Amino acid sequence: MHTLCRIPYLLVSPKLLRPRYCSSQASSEVIQLLKVPHAKNNIPASIIQKVDKKLHLKRHHPLNIIKTKIEDYCNKYALDNEQNSFTIYDNLSPIVTTKQCFDDLLVASDHISRSSSDTYYLNESTLLRTHTSAHQSQFIRSGVDSFLCTGDVYRRDEIDASHYPVFHQMEGVRIFNFKENVSVNDAKAIIENDLKNILTGLAKHLFGKDCEMRWRNDYFPFTTPSFELEVKFNDAWLEVLGCGVIHDQVMANCNKTNKYGWAFGLGLERLAMILFSIPDIRLFWSDDERFSNQFKSNDIIKFQPYSKFPLCYKDVSFWLPAEGLHINDVYEGKQYTLYSSDHH
Ligand code: PHE
Repeated sequence: MHTLCRIPYLLVSPKLLRPRYCSSQASSEVIQLLKVPHAKNNIPASIIQKVDKKLHLKRHHPLNIIKTKIEDYCNKYALDNEQNSFTIYDNLSPIVTTKQCFDDLLVASDHISRSSSDTYYLNESTLLRTHTSAHQSQFIRSGVDSFLCTGDVYRRDEIDASHYPVFHQMEGVRIFNFKENVSVNDAKAIIENDLKNILTGLAKHLFGKDCEMRWRNDYFPFTTPSFELEVKFNDAWLEVLGCGVIHDQVMANCNKTNKYGWAFGLGLERLAMILFSIPDIRLFWSDDERFSNQFKSNDIIKFQPYSKFPLCYKDVSFWLPAEGLHINDVYEGKQYTLYSSDHH
């Protein structure tokens, strides 16, 4: 009888055994929906093409490497602090309603982010999510108390080295269960403290334990108080994420009165560009192997720039010497000079 190698199940924390949820909608269905003609539909073919790329799920892609690193860190933090682990969502359809993306998050009805000059609409009430916060309320409402949700987000924007109309965000949310006798103020202070702890630890995990960072007050309609975290990198302060204690009204809209929690949102490209020294956001979309092959180790490494010209393979033909030729002579490049017209 052969023995199966099993991890003794009792030695594994039950929290580690929690399933990873990954609900999805077929990209082909999503793409069909994006193409349905409507007076308000302002989604160009160039954007539709990006929808099934899912760079954050592509093995060895820098965005996937960062995503996995953050998920592993957050779940280790949860385990060390005796909190429930985060459920992972990373394949939700990017099509959401105006209610999910704006109303549930208390975004004012005349806010610029709702305008069709900033957002890609399918029709009056459906759009491509502009941030992963669009999924917060649906999970809170359905009782998921701790989750990380990663996805592609879409904003009509100019294109340059640091802006692209499609990029990737990760949303983190934790709702707490307090005993009846804990006051609202105490509960919110504990939550704010936990939020700053997990994110300070994350910055150290990504940028090194000696990295300089600072908290600044910020404003988001769906969190109060709200903060941003800045990290010093190459002598400049860079904003790496936004976060805060979830607004009571957001919780109430999810039928969770007297429940409190925190949320954060971070941009994966921003982090990856800093950590891998990737100078241009458009490189993430490259199919060039000179890009993708650099990240095979799944480690954070320094990106090596390469020619802007495409890869160009050449067949080489030459006359064989009468005495014959050993292949090693070719590799050693002995007496042979190759002339090439390719000066890329
Ligand atoms: N959704 C916000 C943005 O895109 C970030 C955020 C997420 C802020 C969660 C607070 C809480 O800028």
